[in-house]
Amino acid sequence: MEKQNKEQFDKDINRNPNQDLSLLDKEVKRVDHDIKDDDYILEVKNLKMYFPIATSVFKTVPLKAVDDVSFKIRRGETLGLVGESGCGKTTLGRTILQLYKPTSGEIIFNGRPVKGKTALKEFRKKATIVFQDPYSSLDPRMTVSDIISEPLEIHKIYKTKAEREKRVAELMEAVGLSKEHASRYVHAFSGGQRQRIGIARALASSPEFIMCDEPVSALDVSIQAQILNTFQDLQKQFGLTYLFVAHNLLVVKHISDRIAVMYLGHIVELANSQELYDNPLHPYTISLLSSIPEPDPKKARANKRQILEGDIPSPLKAPSGCPFRTRCPKATPECANKLPELREISKEHFVACRLFNE
Ligand SMILES: Nc1ncnc2c1ncn2[C@@H]1O[C@H](COP(=O)(O)OP(=O)(O)OP(=O)(O)O)[C@@H](O)[C@H]1O
Ligand code: SF4
Ligand SMILES: [Mg+2]
Repeated sequence: MEKQNKEQFDKDINRNPNQDLSLLDKEVKRVDHDIKDDDYILEVKNLKMYFPIATSVFKTVPLKAVDDVSFKIRRGETLGLVGESGCGKTTLGRTILQLYKPTSGEIIFNGRPVKGKTALKEFRKKATIVFQDPYSSLDPRMTVSDIISEPLEIHKIYKTKAEREKRVAELMEAVGLSKEHASRYVHAFSGGQRQRIGIARALASSPEFIMCDEPVSALDVSIQAQILNTFQDLQKQFGLTYLFVAHNLLVVKHISDRIAVMYLGHIVELANSQELYDNPLHPYTISLLSSIPEPDPKKARANKRQILEGDIPSPLKAPSGCPFRTRCPKATPECANKLPELREISKEHFVACRLFNE
């Protein structure tokens, strides 16, 4: 990453915890799109991603970044994935896309397991990624046209350069960039425009599923709203399915159909977005929601705030039993005994907490 860009990126990232995200409430519109209840595009079954960490020359221990995660994504939906830094969101997304070789578990895409060279090749075309960092993820030595057309060459989608250029122009227009800027280098673009280039690149191979890894968290709030609206427009236009990662529940609030909450490698709650906001059940979700500033003073007074104390433990030293027990205000000694299962406790509302499992 160029020094100046890196500094800007760090500044943006560091500024974000204090940003007033309530602007998103006003500026992000809700675009309705079609989702069928029983049409699943992607199924994740018992997925584990353990990284071997060397503790001495002779010994490694597994860092359990994703630990036995299972869920399904409906065609055309946006599944929000939230949780604190280090809980495993990026690793989960990357393992689904097979950018990491899973320790174990299965990915089913359009009803077929992603196994073997041919299936993986097709999957790579149909399942793509938009990265968090629009500075380091785009090569400064390449023109916008080269960046967007790279997947077209990798997947041998068009035979001629003229066909590829036509496609690049279409994609640039689709994401709100001027096609006249195709021959420019990325340093000429702002953070929001760079992220639009990243989105155009992810769209190049006509994917059905896109993993969006905190694609707006490095941007100013007003730009975040514009990019979130663009994601929604593109979803409707191309029938896309998103796994949309954020560490802040406000960012995914408007655009997610359902939201999964992740803690220390596990999904601890999964529900329809509105249900999750109106009726959060897992103590961790309640804490995350409490940390969102409430603009209405009446509502703010009525809300019982539950402040989350301490940091997320290292996955190398995960507590026994419930992973949240070291920070949970409702923890009892029994919580140390057994890992709570993610169970459906009312229609489409899944929770992994002993309080709801017995
Ligand atoms: N390649 C790797 N090798 C070893 N450990 C890793 C690797 N990638 C991630 N980890 C560890 O796995 C855990 C989960 O990391 P991950 O980046 O998936 O979290 P995250 O939820 O995306 O965090 P953030 O919000 O900061 O992006 C962390 O403890 C991290 O240090
Ligand atoms: S199982 Fe126990 S520690 Fe875990 S979230 Fe529920 S009450 Fe808290
Ligand atoms: Mg991440």
